[in-house]
Amino acid sequence: MASNGKYNAAKLALELVKDGMVLGIGSGSTVEIFLNLLGERIKREDMEVYGVPTSYQSYYAAIRNRVRVVDLVEYEPELCIDGADQVDAKMNCIKGGGGALTREKIVAKASKKVVIIVDEGKLVEKLSMPIPVEVLPFAYGYVSKKLKELGAEVKLRHGSGKVGPVVTDNGNFVLDCDFGVLEDEAVEETEESVKLITGIVESGIFPKKMIDQVIAGSSNSTRFL
Ligand code: 5RP
Repeated sequence: MASNGKYNAAKLALELVKDGMVLGIGSGSTVEIFLNLLGERIKREDMEVYGVPTSYQSYYAAIRNRVRVVDLVEYEPELCIDGADQVDAKMNCIKGGGGALTREKIVAKASKKVVIIVDEGKLVEKLSMPIPVEVLPFAYGYVSKKLKELGAEVKLRHGSGKVGPVVTDNGNFVLDCDFGVLEDEAVEETEESVKLITGIVESGIFPKKMIDQVIAGSSNSTRFL
């Protein structure tokens, strides 16, 4: 098992799922653990669960685990389950380590309740890691310049298994933008100023107002924040 913390957080989140529920399904390894556990429960209890996935990864993991894949045209998720890369003491989050931040933010905003599941190693006092930003490839040069003017150190994300930049499920690039430490008061303001730059599709800042609950797991315990 990759991390007991991730597993324990995913296991507690499973208890929030009810028969007939429509879920928003985030992306990443913790969400994949959650989907595998959900699949076992669906089979065991003969449940019907619907889900709106946020990436090809979670789309295929949902199908493998008997979750009925639906979209936001006809369905409004009751509960969104997603992972995060960093969670601060006020529940502000940074997401997008897997490059799925735009669809994750859309599905989170469309959902009635958002629950983040993480290994407790992701908990920090203040956000400090580089913020993933999805950008239209055509706008890359202009957007980088504007982000630097806002004070960020900007790196174009490169992946493995392909030369050149990472290309998201939406066909865009990801810039990892280091703004240093983000105080709680600066989180929303930073999100807003980043979003105002033309050519940026979305940022990986998920302010606390979007998050209803965080479940943090360790090797031998789990807790709600
Ligand atoms: C993908 C994400 C993920 O939720 C985040 O990167 C956490 O991933 P993991 O559960 O693998 O640690 O935001 O865009």
